Amino acid sequence: MKLFLDSANLDHIKEIHGWGVLAGVTTNPSLIAKEGKDFIATIHQICEIVQGPVSAEVVAQDTAGMVKEGRLLAKLHEHVVVKVPLIPAGLAATRQLADDGIRVNVTLCFQSNQALLAGLAGAAYISPFVGRVDDVSGEGMALIREIAEIYSMDPDIQTQVLSASIRHPLHVVQSALAGADVATIPYDVFKKLLAHPQTDSGNKKFLEDWATVPNKDIVGRMTDWLAGKR
Ligand code: E4P
Repeated sequence: MKLFLDSANLDHIKEIHGWGVLAGVTTNPSLIAKEGKDFIATIHQICEIVQGPVSAEVVAQDTAGMVKEGRLLAKLHEHVVVKVPLIPAGLAATRQLADDGIRVNVTLCFQSNQALLAGLAGAAYISPFVGRVDDVSGEGMALIREIAEIYSMDPDIQTQVLSASIRHPLHVVQSALAGADVATIPYDVFKKLLAHPQTDSGNKKFLEDWATVPNKDIVGRMTDWLAGKR
């Protein structure tokens, strides 16, 4: 499963990109508004940092408007994936944009029939919102599992399942086990994926013990050793 960052914050994107595991970024109008920066410049900068798929959402609510915005967004950078809401106008826009060869991330998916429609409309990604499903006493992970199974049974559907609205690290591992192709993860959850008290305490103890080892300049000594100065 690939990992995307769900953020429009350039510092956070640069930091997680530096880990070497970031395959893409998703944004939405709320995340863009939170940063208070120019939309177009932000999307372009994210694309340059990530060098992978970056979802940028249309805000028009009619098909013609979505297609117009989507075509322009796709021209901003080769990494832009046009994000479209899962409403009737969005479905029609997805088909038109997909026919143009533009990748579409169909967002705000809350049930499998919606995902089936998005898949048949040629979406590159479907974004089921697992956290928001859990919020209303549904089972977000069951939705991921069901969509992954439906897509795997239909050779005409090439859509990737992008697990979205991730709230905690368990959602990430559960998404991978449920068959998601991608999980898009908020910054704070991304940091938690790596955090473990035993990693920190173990690392601290190794360094304390290492401090007692003689001739600790291993870089200098290895360089000399490899140069034949043993
Ligand atoms: C998906 O791409 C959305 O940006 C996002 O995952 C929504 O998450 P939220 O429910 O935490 O707002």
